[in-house]
Amino acid sequence: MSTLPNTPIQVPADASSLPMTLPRLREMKRLGEPIVMVTAYDYPGALAVERAGVDIVLVGDSAAMTVLGHDSTVPVELDEMLMLTKAVRRGLKSPFLVGDLPFGSNEISDEQAIGTALRFVREAGCDAVKLEGGGPNPASRARAIVRAGIPVMGHVGLTPQTSTALGGYRAQGRTAENARRIEAEALALQEAGCFAIVFEAIPSALAAELSGRMEIPVIGIGAGPSVDGQVLVFHDLLGIREGMGAKFVRRYASLLDDMTAGVAAYADDVRSRTFPGPEHAYSIDETELARFRATRAA
Ligand code: KIV
Repeated sequence: MSTLPNTPIQVPADASSLPMTLPRLREMKRLGEPIVMVTAYDYPGALAVERAGVDIVLVGDSAAMTVLGHDSTVPVELDEMLMLTKAVRRGLKSPFLVGDLPFGSNEISDEQAIGTALRFVREAGCDAVKLEGGGPNPASRARAIVRAGIPVMGHVGLTPQTSTALGGYRAQGRTAENARRIEAEALALQEAGCFAIVFEAIPSALAAELSGRMEIPVIGIGAGPSVDGQVLVFHDLLGIREGMGAKFVRRYASLLDDMTAGVAAYADDVRSRTFPGPEHAYSIDETELARFRATRAA
């Protein structure tokens, strides 16, 4: 019969149970305290990131790939994102919860963007939303949502929703012109009132230079160490997907292997009739069993 190891849970000593706030995030940037952000997509994932004491949780549209099995982030629907976000909300107390506006939920107009952001806050209990992309439209959407009273996180560099237009999943900002575009987009999003911004897959030297000029916290993913915080996708850092993922991922566990091993051990036990054991079974008083048999015989 197989047994699973019972490893003690390691909760960081500095994990705070106080809810994360916007002033605290600004303070962390001012003090140079690294901000820890991670994605989550369901209730058990939320329990794990809550217990680990992270600062910001993003229900990313990466859910399209990590939990829904699509091959890009584009197909995920708003209602699917809301369903996942509600589950995460139920498992979270302290981290700041950000919902990712999926492709097609904000591009048409500022009104559409406000309507979508309101649903993330009112129906799913988000503290803020994230909006992908730079340029005049995303900046206008961000400004409109902020004016409606909802904090917005920007996202520039590699923006997977529009990766086709960017030439595929590849690092951005590697020419002077492209770097200038990213700088202009980041500053426009800051000016539009974003409380923080994600820099994805841009050269470390560029991220360091831009982040020094930004007043709002910069959270990097593939943007090197000189930014205010880091974000990774839950399934990438825990190894709950096949393949090694992007260059910027560091893997801290191999849960897909552990899950497979656990289910395979269960299947073995069922097939060899070693599960269930006596400790998993319910009993019935002998007289009740005898009465039951007698009733049936009558
Ligand atoms: O959807 C997502 O997971 C993201 C992060 C990579 C920042 O946008």
